[in-house]
Amino acid sequence: MRRLLPPGPDLTDADLTEPYAYPPDLDRPWVRVNFVSSLDGAVSVDGRSAGLGSAADKAVFGILRRLADVVLVGAGTARAERYRGARKPTVGRDTPPPIAVVTGSAALAPDLGLFTDTAVPTIVLTTAEAPADRRAALREAGGDVVELPDLAPATLLAELERRGLRRVLCEGGPGLHGDLVAAGAVDELCLTLAPLLAAGDAGRIARSAAGHDPETMTLESVLESEGNLLLRYRIRRSSEGA
Ligand SMILES: NC(=O)c1ccc[n+]([C@@H]2O[C@H](COP(=O)([O-])OP(=O)(O)OC[C@H]3O[C@@H](n4cnc5c(N)ncnc54)[C@H](OP(=O)(O)O)[C@@H]3O)[C@@H](O)[C@H]2O)c1
Repeated sequence: MRRLLPPGPDLTDADLTEPYAYPPDLDRPWVRVNFVSSLDGAVSVDGRSAGLGSAADKAVFGILRRLADVVLVGAGTARAERYRGARKPTVGRDTPPPIAVVTGSAALAPDLGLFTDTAVPTIVLTTAEAPADRRAALREAGGDVVELPDLAPATLLAELERRGLRRVLCEGGPGLHGDLVAAGAVDELCLTLAPLLAAGDAGRIARSAAGHDPETMTLESVLESEGNLLLRYRIRRSSEGA
């Protein structure tokens, strides 16, 4: 991969740990979001993100998982992408980062790989308003089902923090990402721009109710591989220095 910003020597997949390291000594959950999009903003091709993928995006996807304490994902993505559970260890730990799936409905099939193909229990973040039989079925399937008072970003992140899971990697989808953006809860966005024009009716990477003031992000790094741009942006809070 070519390293365009900051300028530097080319990187192999094995070198990716350093440019994607989380800030050290986090004292709160740090929310990193990862998406791939076509040049015209499509987040999927035929309902899935696979059509946008590349070897470079796959390598970054893998390293971001290995650096995280937890992978946070919306139920729509878990269903559309037929998510499997956590399998590869996190850097510096023997266990993989658990997947935490956010669902108001608890409408997840218990035979999804999230529950049947995982090294650690998948965390299901839901509320007591989800049908009791669905919650019971997911528990029966091995899910770590948590009934929260609500599924607002602050509540989700407080639950992860309670478990000591601060290096949060959100893999979308657009619904969950939109909620996080609207709540001002995103710290960092890793966005792969795939060299494709997709058109179609796919949505974009964030969706929420109107009325959110756009937030400015700072471009931190740019890698390039076979026409894919791997961008990393972050929010700089007013409480932080440069
Ligand atoms: N290109 C990429 O990098 C990428 C990444 C991820 C997803 N995608 C694509 O995005 C599409 C899925 O989009 P999506 O918007 O449906 O995904 P999503 O955000 O993963 O799922 C939305 C669903 O998640 C649950 N949810 C999320 N946040 C919630 C909250 N704060 N409160 C309550 N429930 C919440 C709800 O599930 P319940 O309905 O169960 O209540 C909601 O219907 C798929 O086509 C997928 O391929 C693309």
